[in-house]
Amino acid sequence: MGISVIILAAGKGTRMRSSLPKVLHPIANKPMVQHVIDTANGIGANNIHLVYGHGGEQLKEQLSHNNVEWVLQAEQLGTGHAVQVAMPNIPDDHRVVILYGDVPLTQLSTLEKLMAVKPDNGIGLLTVILDDPMGYGRIVREDNRVVGIIEQKDAAPEQLLINEVNTGILVADASNLKNWLNNLSNDNAQGEYYLTDIIAMAHEQGCQIETAHPASAIEVEGANNRVQLAALERAFQARQAETLMLNGASLADPARIDVRGDVTTGQDVSIDVNVIFEGKVTIGNNVKIGANCILRDCQIGDNTVIEANSIIDDASVAEQCTIGPFGRLRPGSVMEQGAKLGNFVEMKKSTLGKGAKANHFTYLGDTTVGEKANIGAGTITCNYDGVNKFQTHIGAGAFIGSNSSLVAPVSIADNATVGAGSTIVKNVEAEELAVARGKQRNISSWQRPEKK
Ligand code: UD1
Ligand code: CA
Repeated sequence: MGISVIILAAGKGTRMRSSLPKVLHPIANKPMVQHVIDTANGIGANNIHLVYGHGGEQLKEQLSHNNVEWVLQAEQLGTGHAVQVAMPNIPDDHRVVILYGDVPLTQLSTLEKLMAVKPDNGIGLLTVILDDPMGYGRIVREDNRVVGIIEQKDAAPEQLLINEVNTGILVADASNLKNWLNNLSNDNAQGEYYLTDIIAMAHEQGCQIETAHPASAIEVEGANNRVQLAALERAFQARQAETLMLNGASLADPARIDVRGDVTTGQDVSIDVNVIFEGKVTIGNNVKIGANCILRDCQIGDNTVIEANSIIDDASVAEQCTIGPFGRLRPGSVMEQGAKLGNFVEMKKSTLGKGAKANHFTYLGDTTVGEKANIGAGTITCNYDGVNKFQTHIGAGAFIGSNSSLVAPVSIADNATVGAGSTIVKNVEAEELAVARGKQRNISSWQRPEKK
C-alpha cells in the first residue's frame, strides 16, 4: 500500500513579521519545511503534497529541487479544508500521513511508531501529554479509547483540564479521509473546517483510533514567531551535538557548537567552543579543532590540528597538517600531508605540497607549492593584474625569503631560493638564488637633520 504525505503550510505566519513565508525560515540553515520534506522522504512517501497559500513564488523557488506536488489553498478555511484540497490527487488505496510545514523536528522513528500503531481501517494519532495544554486540541477518551478531539475554543471547562493534546500529526486511509472530510462542517467557535472533527466521525463509524507519542515534546512543537524558532534551533543543535559525542567526538561545550549541514567525525576528535560546521564536512580521527573555527564543505585528514579562529571553506586537508590560529582556506585549497599553514595565511585555488610551510602572513592564490618548500613570512603571490588571474608555481624544496612578491605568471623551480624582500617577475631556475631588491648603501657618520 502506497504512502502519500500531505504537508500543511498555508498559514500566513504573521507573527514572524517577515517577508519570507514562515515555513522557509531556517533551522540549521535549512528551511523548516525542508526538514519536514526530508522526514517525509525518510518514511518512504510515494508522493508529497505541499499545501501552500502565501508566498508561492518564494516557496517554489527555494524548494525547487524537491519532488513535491504543489497544492494551492487560496483561502485558509481550516486544517480540514487544507487536507481536503490535497485529496483529489491521492489514490484511494494510499495511507495518508499529515505533517506540518512549521513543525520541523519530528523524528523519523516517531512517524514509524505512529504508522505501526494505525489499525486497519482506523487512524493513528500522535498525541503528547503537556503540563500546560493551553491552546491545543484536547484528546477526549472514553474507557481509555479515543473518541474525539475538542479544540481549546470549543471546550467545556472540564475538558480544558485534559492534558493529553493533539499534535495534529496523524495517519489514515485515503478512502476514509475523503469520506470524513466531505462531511465536515464549520459550525464551531472559529468557523473553520477542523481536521480534528474526523476523529469523532471515525469513532462513530466503529473505526479505531490508536495513539503514539514522540520521544520528546519538542518533536511536535511549531514555530509561530522567532522566539519559538530560536528554541527549535537550540533543540536541534543539542540533538546534533549529542550525535557527534556518541560517535566519538569530545565537545568542550555541547551548547556552543552549530552544525548546519552534515558532519561525520572519526574517533577522538576534539572540538573547542563556538565551532560552526556548514555543508558537508568529513573529519578523520584525532583531529583537534580550536575555538571559533568555521568549517564549510571540507574534508580534514587524521591527526590534523586546526587552531583557533581558522576558516576552512570548500577545501581539502590531508593528515598531520596544522592550520592557524587565524588560518584561512578559501575554495579550491588543498593541503597535502604534513603541510603547515600558520597565522594570517590565506590560500585560494592553491595547493600546499607535502610538508610545505607557509607560517606567517602570506597570500597564496592560484599557486602550487611543491613538497617541503618554505614560504617566508609576508610572501604574496600577485595573481591578478586587475583583469586576469595568473598561476604561480613554486617547486619542491624552494625557499622564498620573507616579504617577497611573486608576480604571476611565474615559476620558481625546485630547490631555488628567493632573497628576502624580492619582487620576482621572471622565472627562477632550479638551484638558483634570485635577489631582486635595491642594493643597500651605508653612509658613515650620517648627521640627522636637527630642528632649528
Ligand atoms: C491545530 C489543531 C489542534 C492541535 C494543534 C497543534 C485543528 C482544528 N486543530 O490547531 O488540535 O492541538 O494544531 O499545533 O486542526 N493550516 C493550513 N490551512 C488552513 C489552516 C491551517 O494550511 O486553512 C496549517 C497552518 O499553516 C498550520 C497548521 O495548519 O501550520 C495548523 O493550523 P493552526 O490554525 O495553527 O491550528 P491550531 O489552531 O494550532
Ligand atoms: Ca498552531
